[in-house]
Amino acid sequence: MRRVRKKEHIENYLKTSFKGDTLMGDIYLPHNALPELDFEDIDTSISFLGKKVDYPILINAMTGGSVFTQEINKDLATLAKELNIPMAVGSQTIALDDEQSKESFKIVREIIGPEGIVISNLSGLASLDDVNKAMEMVNADALQIHLNLAQELVMEEGDRNFKGILKNIELVANKIDKPLIVKEVGFGISRDVAEKLYNVGVRYIDVSGYGGTNFIEIENLRNHELDFTELYSWGIPTALSLLQLNGMKEDLSIIASGGLRTSMDIVKSLVLGAEIAGISGELLAYLVHGGYPNAKEYLEGTINKLKIIMMLLGKENIKSLRNTEYKVTGKLRELL
Ligand SMILES: Cc1cc2nc3c(=O)[nH]c(=O)nc-3n(C[C@H](O)[C@H](O)[C@H](O)COP(=O)(O)O)c2cc1C
Repeated sequence: MRRVRKKEHIENYLKTSFKGDTLMGDIYLPHNALPELDFEDIDTSISFLGKKVDYPILINAMTGGSVFTQEINKDLATLAKELNIPMAVGSQTIALDDEQSKESFKIVREIIGPEGIVISNLSGLASLDDVNKAMEMVNADALQIHLNLAQELVMEEGDRNFKGILKNIELVANKIDKPLIVKEVGFGISRDVAEKLYNVGVRYIDVSGYGGTNFIEIENLRNHELDFTELYSWGIPTALSLLQLNGMKEDLSIIASGGLRTSMDIVKSLVLGAEIAGISGELLAYLVHGGYPNAKEYLEGTINKLKIIMMLLGKENIKSLRNTEYKVTGKLRELL
């Protein structure tokens, strides 16, 4: 069942047509006509989870668990290795009691090697025992716990009882010896939720906001009982989620994701306080439609344009990029 579902998620993601809006377009960045910089000196590297990565881009959680998804994970891991960027695997629940599907996750660490960053992924209801097994499976540098309420509720066979998740997250946060990242899957994290997470010990939050992959639509294409079209515009736009969490606590790291597709999205995410920007759906689309070379070309082009935008802003490195002054306009300003 799970294996089929994982394949359907990919197939249905590619079939989705609703276009959400991250509201990143409402962030205005000023041009610098006199940057006093040499393009060659633009440095995009950052330190993330205690390791140096070459670009502030994370290949965010997507898949694993079958032969089909293993091929995707192989390509994604090769991209992560070649570009020296981190990668999170998809939910590992499927591999906890199915030996066969473990390989599709393990291969990610095998390709990336010990120096790179691999992040585990499980649901907010996972037990400590399962967390340990999942992290060991990929020798994880960190664990992602996903909050996917909207997805589960639209899934006919999805979870309906979400009581006790925060307590469970607290337990996991306090027991594992690697960082814990709590993430959404495309509906965003509000300041209120972020505060609750912070108060139980979470120090990394991936907002994974609205505007990109839409799990209500993905699941609606699988659900033949009820029509959820009216909920397609549900969620906190990524830019709003980032602004709500920006500067909340000094020791809280924010990861941006949800509808990030372009270099400009990445730059704006960093300016709004994110440590790194996660991409899932857009990269998957390039990979599935045009294979590994196409996905690589997309990421390389994105990196090149990232440097160009840094130059246009007069910022030589990511630290100074984060100090860019910005203006909030339009609907985003209204929502704030
Ligand atoms: C096909 C597909 C499968 C996904 N599976 C998972 C998953 O297993 N665990 C998880 O935490 N997020 C999962 N996600 C959500 C992404 O990690 C991300 O939060 C979300 O897609 C928003 O980013 P995007 O708009 O760049 O795709 C999945 C996304 C896609 C497209």
